[in-house]
Amino acid sequence: MTQLVILGAAGDLTSRYLVPALGELAVAGALPEGLTITGVDRQPWGDDEFRHHLAGRHSGHAVAFLSGLRYHQSDVTDATTLRAVFEPPGSTSVVYLALPPHVVPGAVQALGALHLSRGNRIVAEKPFGHDLESARRLNALLHDVVPEEQVFRVDHFLGKQTVQNILGLRFANRIFEAVWNAQHVEAVDIVWDETLALEGRAGYYDAAGALRDMVQNHLLQLLCLLAMEPPVALDERSLRDRKVDVLRAVRRPTLDAVRRHAVRARYGAGTAGGATVPAYSDEPGVDPDRRTETYAAVTLFVDSWRWAGVPFTLRSGKALGADRHEVRVRFRPVPHLAFDEEHDPEPNVLRLHVDPDLVTLEVNLNGAGDPFRLERAGMATALAPQELSAYARLLVDVFAGDPVLSIRADEAEEAWRIIEPILEAWRNEATPLLEYPAGSSGPHEHSPVTEPASG
Ligand code: BG6
Repeated sequence: MTQLVILGAAGDLTSRYLVPALGELAVAGALPEGLTITGVDRQPWGDDEFRHHLAGRHSGHAVAFLSGLRYHQSDVTDATTLRAVFEPPGSTSVVYLALPPHVVPGAVQALGALHLSRGNRIVAEKPFGHDLESARRLNALLHDVVPEEQVFRVDHFLGKQTVQNILGLRFANRIFEAVWNAQHVEAVDIVWDETLALEGRAGYYDAAGALRDMVQNHLLQLLCLLAMEPPVALDERSLRDRKVDVLRAVRRPTLDAVRRHAVRARYGAGTAGGATVPAYSDEPGVDPDRRTETYAAVTLFVDSWRWAGVPFTLRSGKALGADRHEVRVRFRPVPHLAFDEEHDPEPNVLRLHVDPDLVTLEVNLNGAGDPFRLERAGMATALAPQELSAYARLLVDVFAGDPVLSIRADEAEEAWRIIEPILEAWRNEATPLLEYPAGSSGPHEHSPVTEPASG
């Protein structure tokens, strides 16, 4: 691999996520030897201005490595001006599409027109398309340029260690797998509540909304890892086949199911994360008539022998009262309780928290003093801090050419199949768009999650 080409080098993604992750890898000595990095965008910059633009936003370790970056001015959808970046013909590149979703198809077409060697790799960011049809079209365009094994669809949640740890917990221990099914599990909640509001991202977010931004990709990926059958190996084929099996088994919601099991809302004015937040509809760049949701909660069912009847609820919201990033597996109560308790004790709950990375198993034990009284106890373990950030971790795989943690074309399409009826019902106003004050616990009286968001 000789070079990394960043299409969309002047954009937010490049300066906020990609370049810091590359800087991290440079410091760790984990960038491929002799790699050159070229940013491409429309701005009339030279190398120095590009470096200066990035340096203004970064400090510390990233700055030293910036001095090696190059810049090429081009419209990313114009093959004629793009061609010079890929000289001499036959060299191989990793092309990173750090672009707004609507620019991606044009950029991929331009790459196609260049007839690059098949050894190139393309890295795409979520969302992959905006519905099933556009995802199919995008996949077809990508496959015209390089084979599927060389397309890396990045979902940075797969680079988070607590997310990867689901595999260790489930498949390197005997005790969990035996109870990991509908007979013992009552419900699974996958929760990503954020105090962050829009943060100036209206240009992207207002066309996406919480369902496309979080549920269709990140949270469905968590669902896959939680619900999948044991893979025979942790390689790109077995792992991704098992994940796709889960997506295929997820029941496509009917209109009635959307009405009963999906909640959408957007934030009103308030205070969240210590900052004053305007109502979403008053945020700069937002078109209130789009009625974009900033909160989505959806209960899905996996129609398989293992999971029949178990609700999996996926929830994410912006500008909420507290950050809560966790998976919660709630087990069924014991079949018979011999203890003379006024109230049945809470059943076992296994929690996997992200930021901080913690695993907690809640159990009922004999209480202090009286052996026939029960007390709730939590068995908790904290994971060691993650060595590389999620983005950097995924870039290592991209440079190594290992797609194990990349989203395969069929995964992306299956995920849209599940989400599309909800998008359609919401587009047709089949369910109300609720409102919650920023900094509150969300419209939790309507939330299907068994525990409310914290306010
Ligand atoms: C991004 C979404 O993909 O993930 C953001 O676009 C969201 O809206 C973010 O805030 C959450 O991930 P993290 O790793 O920043 O907690």
